[in-house]
Amino acid sequence: MKIKPAKRIEKIKPYFFADLEKKIINLENIGMDIIRLDMGSPDLPPENFIIEALASAAKRSDMHGYGQSGGSHSLRGAFAQYYKTRFNVELEIEKEVLGLIGSKEGLFNLSQVLVDPGDIVLVPDPCYPVYSVGAMVAQAKMYNMPLLAENGFLPDFTKIPEDVARKAKLMWLNYPNNPTGAVAPLSFFEEAVRFAGTYNILIAHDAPYVDVCFDNYIAPSILQVENAKDVAVEFNSLSKTYNMAGWRVGVAVGNQDIIKLLRIYKSQMDSSHFKPIMAAAENALLGDQSWLNDRNNVYQHRRDIVIETLRDVGFTLDTPKASLYVWAKIPKKFKDSIQFCNHLLNATGVSITPGVVYGKSGAGYIRISLVINADRLSEAMRRLKLWIKESA
Ligand SMILES: Cc1ncc(COP(=O)(O)O)c(C=O)c1O
Repeated sequence: MKIKPAKRIEKIKPYFFADLEKKIINLENIGMDIIRLDMGSPDLPPENFIIEALASAAKRSDMHGYGQSGGSHSLRGAFAQYYKTRFNVELEIEKEVLGLIGSKEGLFNLSQVLVDPGDIVLVPDPCYPVYSVGAMVAQAKMYNMPLLAENGFLPDFTKIPEDVARKAKLMWLNYPNNPTGAVAPLSFFEEAVRFAGTYNILIAHDAPYVDVCFDNYIAPSILQVENAKDVAVEFNSLSKTYNMAGWRVGVAVGNQDIIKLLRIYKSQMDSSHFKPIMAAAENALLGDQSWLNDRNNVYQHRRDIVIETLRDVGFTLDTPKASLYVWAKIPKKFKDSIQFCNHLLNATGVSITPGVVYGKSGAGYIRISLVINADRLSEAMRRLKLWIKESA
């Protein structure tokens, strides 16, 4: 039988990292020592009290049935408490908070519940790929908002043509940003909320790196803007904040109508988290937060190792104040960042991500993840430096 995929998904390509994985396995099979600075999966574990909360909940006999779709009341309450403590934002637990099985699920599903074929979705370029893939499956038209170095990698709303803005239904934003590491001041979110209000556009702000900050920087939530809930939903996640990427705990907060749509959709799609994971997630959100400072200092030290080397060998970059990434323009003598990353991997075993994977404005850039210990990172930088000098 010849299987013909649905038209909706015909254009979906395998996730870049799935293909990279195959290439890396082949190189490892021929004995190469690979250092992976490509994906953004935290290498450090969550604090012990969180793991202990999981273990003790897992020992209880009443914790093994289905959990409540969209997260237990107490997990949603813990997210609401976190928003109050961290951002001074009040959330109604029943109407404005929805637990997600990792935020990626909600990011993808948002387009499915909101967007009809032909609707316009405003997508940053470069961006985390799920925004555009979700829109593509919903058969939306995408309008790219370039994130350029000269604008601090913030979209310029004044460049969006009036007719596009009028027809747009959804706009994606993400700060602290993946892949650029850029941050946005609250005044930018104020401007975004005004723009969305004028044109009746829903803002989806994706904020998983909001607590991965350096140099004493504190990132804001879009919900701190007055009346933001009228036009915005924010996605957040335990993956990066608490080093819990594999646990799959995220949240959507904000606009009640959107939360309701996502809740109904989810109730038909999944059967929630493992209850002990929800119990441990509550502990992460409500327990001691001081360890995050030490963890951020670890990333900051790694960041400094990377930026020092990159600047030394001719890359152009800003020092990121947040996120897990260094985003840098490759030296002029290299023309293409895909070729650059391929050659670097084959010659040295150091795997980094070409910027163009995140959109055409990422051409000429690379992204380096900070999710490996300082010794291995220094070794990767040593190899990169040597290779660049040799290829001069
Ligand atoms: C910008 C951005 N949003 C969302 C996610 C996914 O997070 P989660 O693990 O909560 O699905 C990632 C993961 O790398 C990301 O970089």
